[in-house]
Amino acid sequence: MVRINPSILAADFVNMQRDLESIASADFVHVDVMDNHFVPNLTFGPQMVERIQAVSPIPLDVHLMIDRVDVFAPGYAELGCASVTFHAEASDDPVALARAIRARGSRTGLAIKPETPVEPYLEMLEEFDQFLIMTVEPGFGGQSFIDSVMPKLEALRAAATRASSAIWLQVDGGVTLDTIVVAASHGADTFVAGSSVFNGGDPEKAISDLRAQAGHVH
Ligand code: DX5
Ligand code: ZN
Repeated sequence: MVRINPSILAADFVNMQRDLESIASADFVHVDVMDNHFVPNLTFGPQMVERIQAVSPIPLDVHLMIDRVDVFAPGYAELGCASVTFHAEASDDPVALARAIRARGSRTGLAIKPETPVEPYLEMLEEFDQFLIMTVEPGFGGQSFIDSVMPKLEALRAAATRASSAIWLQVDGGVTLDTIVVAASHGADTFVAGSSVFNGGDPEKAISDLRAQAGHVH
């Protein structure tokens, strides 16, 4: 199954409700939380996420790009977000944190930056509902897709198949009509897209075009 999760990092922050309504045909809305420490950019925190949760026509896929995630991530699950993804690089104990998020009723995701190896996590896939392979350096929209991380996606897909795991494999960054085919053919099933959904003027068409492109592979 293909999932398309538009990233509201590319939306108009002062017309957020309007932009959320423009992506109602997507599977989840991808919500990038940045703290200006883990990444060199700042977005918003739990107060904004709570309002997005209240007005969004589709469930929230929260991507935390923050430090001290062991302390802060469970609070996002308590807001009722469908999924809470945190970075392995920011957690002292990813398994304990994943369990804390699940215990609060959210799906839990583990994310890794382009330079971070995937091997340490391949034997603990049962602890997570989704895995996010960053296909750009986290922090900003509009960057180019990094093909060289595709072997990590392949390794994840192989490990998931071996373990009969239903984990969702997500890519985030530089996803376009071309690169979505690359990611899908290396095992991704869940696609975050910011610029390519919001910058063309017709988000619903962009979502259906991306879905069709990935569907050709799956
Ligand atoms: C980057 C964010 C992405 C970003 C993707 O750090 O995690 O979700 O919005 O934007 P595009 O699709 O423009 O690369
Ligand atoms: Zn993201």
